[in-house]
Amino acid sequence: MQVVILKDAAEVAAYGAKIFIEQVKANPASVLGLATGSSPIELYKRVIDANKAGEVSFKDVTTFNLDEYLGLDGDHPQSYRYFMNEQLFNHIDIDKANTFVPDGSAKDPIASCAEYEQKIAAKGGVDVQLLGIGTNGHIGFNEPSSSLASRTRVKTLTQATIDANSRFFAEDEFQPNLSITMGIGSIMEAKKVVLIATGEGKADAIKDTVEGPLSARCPASVLQMHEKAIIICDEAAASKLEDKEFYQYIEQQNDKLLADYYGA
Ligand code: GLP
Repeated sequence: MQVVILKDAAEVAAYGAKIFIEQVKANPASVLGLATGSSPIELYKRVIDANKAGEVSFKDVTTFNLDEYLGLDGDHPQSYRYFMNEQLFNHIDIDKANTFVPDGSAKDPIASCAEYEQKIAAKGGVDVQLLGIGTNGHIGFNEPSSSLASRTRVKTLTQATIDANSRFFAEDEFQPNLSITMGIGSIMEAKKVVLIATGEGKADAIKDTVEGPLSARCPASVLQMHEKAIIICDEAAASKLEDKEFYQYIEQQNDKLLADYYGA
């Protein structure tokens, strides 16, 4: 697990965006796993800027989003499909036919979960998966107690998650308590996982993720078992890490090794 601690949210966004931009530059037909929530918005802005500047093209890229509210169709302003169109897809040169978000209006949600898994497999799996994290350690909509081997499925949201996301819904608006989410087992199959977290509100979740124990109580702690997981957080989100100085020391050493190696 690589733990990168940066000054603030802007640095986290820039660092995270660079990983995705470099991935697509190296393999223009990459398969990206994407996330919603407020955390990735700045990162997406930087990706859009790079695309507009001609630094990188998404025309051959395929994307799979982590999750969607069950009961909202893609035109609903609170749906994650709508979010992705607004925050990213409408502003880059991606072919929307190659952007996949679980279908929140599926007539047969259970069958649509299996189909989603098949689509990911047919594209050869996810190269780099972006994750945010809930204050309770959830990834996607895999709430605490989710099986660490779970696949894409219908999940009930905790009251804490419903409350945290209620800020996006009007007072009298229908807010779903069900979702379709890629499972933890599905997420773990991505070749690389990038989790971003900012702000003090995420400090407990980041502590549990990085320093354990490995437990379904904090679903993101499963990333301790991933060979290529990068946790990128700002000082505030990292503030409860016991071994913070050690993670910073490793990063300095990595920079130094690279500089020595390349003679920079
Ligand atoms: C939602 C999403 C998650 C996201 C989390 C945190 O519940 N399903 O994918 O990581 O919220 O969101 P935020 O980045 O707004 O804190």
